[in-house]
Amino acid sequence: MRLDKLISECGTLSRKEATAAIRAGQAILNGVVVREPDRKVDPACDAVTLCGAPLVYRKYIYAMLNKPAGYVSATDDRSLPYVLELFPPEYRKRGLFPVGRLDRDTTGLLVMTDDGQTAHRALSPRRHVEKVYSFTCESPLPENAEERFRLGLKIGEGEECKPATLLPDESRTAGTVTLTEGKYHQIKRMFERIGNKITSLKRESFAGIPLDPTLAPGAWRDLTEEEIKTLLAAAGTETPE
Ligand code: URA
Repeated sequence: MRLDKLISECGTLSRKEATAAIRAGQAILNGVVVREPDRKVDPACDAVTLCGAPLVYRKYIYAMLNKPAGYVSATDDRSLPYVLELFPPEYRKRGLFPVGRLDRDTTGLLVMTDDGQTAHRALSPRRHVEKVYSFTCESPLPENAEERFRLGLKIGEGEECKPATLLPDESRTAGTVTLTEGKYHQIKRMFERIGNKITSLKRESFAGIPLDPTLAPGAWRDLTEEEIKTLLAAAGTETPE
């Protein structure tokens, strides 16, 4: 990889600014000042500092966002607030995207990455990756609701849901739903199918990774090493070097 690309991908500098910093003698490669922006570097073994600060290169970025209501799960939108706006420029320029979508009014855990293969595999219905949602609904759920969810609901023409786990609380107007797939407006349509209506929906976990309770709506953090391992294992992808 070129030195200017590495510097730009590790921080807030654009490629042009990285080039200027290198030409100004601010980049040190393995203890020696390097002034050629196109110098080849291996992020796995070369030590690079910029203005004295060591650079840490990550092949992929994995983060969790507590999605607030009102944001669309898109990477850009001309008219509505979108989740990528909540990330700083150095993350946005890496081309982060959400692993699966949440409706505009749905809140909670959104895993964001630039690792396309892992995202694609984690979303494949064949991998049965679990997503847990908490909900509130308009009217108390009937006694047979759990069984209807467990048997698989038909929510549209030829659209059949895989077995899902419905766990209402004592009020039967709130609880959790666990899905292993992600059809368009799936939970809302499942509730409509049984004559009810979702009044709030929040994703609590994805692939066994729970939403960090310390993240306020709109806040994000990098996934921990352990969480990255959990995600990659669920997706069946190799650990990136
Ligand atoms: N099901 C829905 O209906 N909406 C979501 O955002 C997620 C699951």
